[in-house]
Amino acid sequence: MQEVFNFNAGPSALPKSVLEKAQAELTNFNGTGMSVMELSHRSKDFEAVHEEAIALLKELLAIPDSYKVLFLQGGASLQFAMVPLQFLKPGKIGNYLLTGSWSEKALKEGKLLGDTAVGASTKETQYRSIPALDAITYNENDAYVHLTSNNTIFGTQWKEFPTVTHAPLIADMSSDILSRKIEIEKFGMIYAGAQKNLGPAGVTIVIIREDLLEEEVDHVPTLLRYRTHSEANSLYHTPPTFSIYMLNQVLQWVKDQGGIEAIERRNEEKAKLIYDAIDESDGFYRGHAEKDSRSLMNITFNLPSEEENKRFLAKAKELGFVGLNGHRSVGGCRASTYNAVPLEACVALSDYMKSYRR
Ligand SMILES: Cc1ncc(COP(=O)(O)O)c(C=O)c1O
Repeated sequence: MQEVFNFNAGPSALPKSVLEKAQAELTNFNGTGMSVMELSHRSKDFEAVHEEAIALLKELLAIPDSYKVLFLQGGASLQFAMVPLQFLKPGKIGNYLLTGSWSEKALKEGKLLGDTAVGASTKETQYRSIPALDAITYNENDAYVHLTSNNTIFGTQWKEFPTVTHAPLIADMSSDILSRKIEIEKFGMIYAGAQKNLGPAGVTIVIIREDLLEEEVDHVPTLLRYRTHSEANSLYHTPPTFSIYMLNQVLQWVKDQGGIEAIERRNEEKAKLIYDAIDESDGFYRGHAEKDSRSLMNITFNLPSEEENKRFLAKAKELGFVGLNGHRSVGGCRASTYNAVPLEACVALSDYMKSYRR
């Protein structure tokens, strides 16, 4: 089989060693004689996996004890609705910082459920940048301030987060969680679908400050309350057991790599290879993001014409590069360099970009 360089935007590359371990124990997990998928979610064997995943996430991200880690379903998209359902009460404002399509989608759900405001937006400049921190507008009665830490489609990323004290700061970190050090205390809540840096699709991580679990939620359906999941340690109903098992393996892999600091350094090195190929191309490759807003996870660029984009992508496909097409809504090219994408794949892409230009 030809070697494949997987640059998919999500679901995306998983560490090979994790896949091999999962394969090796697929039909006999931990001497049970069964697959982990066949275990009761209330069994001791699964409980150990579940608890280990929570503990590892807390350790790797240095999550303080005043926060709860929840494993939910419904993807990050359900969080777009669960957040306002929970926190957007009459007289309050859901304040959204718009930096791309996913923050627009979060705002859309907020609007269905209450009053909203746009505290900042870079839409007018095609979401090429992240708003300046001092350009954000806040309101006295903000229920929360919502942002998307990394913009998967446009290829931009918040480098520094605003300090918000009058309301909880809530972040969708679906496409950059676990890729860099984060000061968790800046946030009231963080959520992320797993299928980029955390594991396969199916589980959504929520990290929520305990005081936010006290919110009055009598009007919210039981399954859509954070408190329900917190009180039941994410076992109120059957969780996606295989996804949690894979998450646990991926977290162990991150730890074995040297933790977040080591992963972050490697991510910087990987992204630099590709950004350098863009910057040294005399304008042949044009990055979409402004330099100070560039994402280390999703690198978006265009060639001089649509024809050239197509030719570049077709040739890349022949060479074994997968997932380099830009999102269907914006076109162009995009390389997603998540944690599990090896350095060698980025070296190969950078070399290909240079040789294609020549
Ligand atoms: C930043 C961001 N938020 C939300 C989503 C939607 O996630 P899900 O498909 O898990 O609902 C995505 C998916 O790519 C994303 O990149």
